[in-house]
Amino acid sequence: MKGVILAGGLGTRLYPLTHATNKHLLPVYDRPMIFYPIETLVKAGITDIMIVVGGPHAGHFLRVLRNGKHLGIKNLSFAYQEREGGIADALSLAEDYADNENVVVILGDNCTDADISDDVKEFSDGAKIFLKKVIDPHRFGVTTFDSDGKIIEITEKPRTPKSSYAVTGLYIYDNTVFDKIKNIKPSKRGELEITDVNKLYLREGKLSWSELKGYWRDAGTFDTLFEVNSYWFQKKNS
Ligand code: G1P
Repeated sequence: MKGVILAGGLGTRLYPLTHATNKHLLPVYDRPMIFYPIETLVKAGITDIMIVVGGPHAGHFLRVLRNGKHLGIKNLSFAYQEREGGIADALSLAEDYADNENVVVILGDNCTDADISDDVKEFSDGAKIFLKKVIDPHRFGVTTFDSDGKIIEITEKPRTPKSSYAVTGLYIYDNTVFDKIKNIKPSKRGELEITDVNKLYLREGKLSWSELKGYWRDAGTFDTLFEVNSYWFQKKNS
């Protein structure tokens, strides 16, 4: 299976920090943020990785990652997202690279110490999403379940969330994901939403889920960036 890390965007929520470099290269304790999603993939045995970059500082990735060998990557590729078209738009750039294989996708600001090796090994087709109970579900995609624990609905950033399960930025997709992306329309914020892709899998009865075990947070705001930094500071100094 191949891995795709989505690290585009302008990081506007982190201005003025992201005037200096790309969000995904900002420090999380002793390492650049992007090292964490890379580690999640490499730990799960995925060493063929494409990183979709974007914005004015895309060249900085090469300086930091070089050919990725020091991080356990065997094959490192890059794609450049020309526009701020959203997560699903960024993923569409990996179609040729995926070359009909299944893909594990992770957002470049999602920092976790969870081990997804078994999920990767067991995956055959459809889509798998990873959920986490959070105190601020309105910031995320949120799932609703039936009495058997099957997902019946996913709502992107609901004002009044019906559960506290957030859809994390880790996904496993079969190769139909690229056709699905071609069939979705931009949302109100003008982006191709990954939630709309997941809803297509849900409609086909092909969406499974696991609860992510371990720490997980996206580091896309000042508060969560600070929180993620202190988590790894404590983890490495305890
Ligand atoms: C994106 C997804 C959302 C998901 C989140 C995880 O949100 O749209 O469904 O819960 O990533 O980090 P965004 O970062 O674009 O606000």
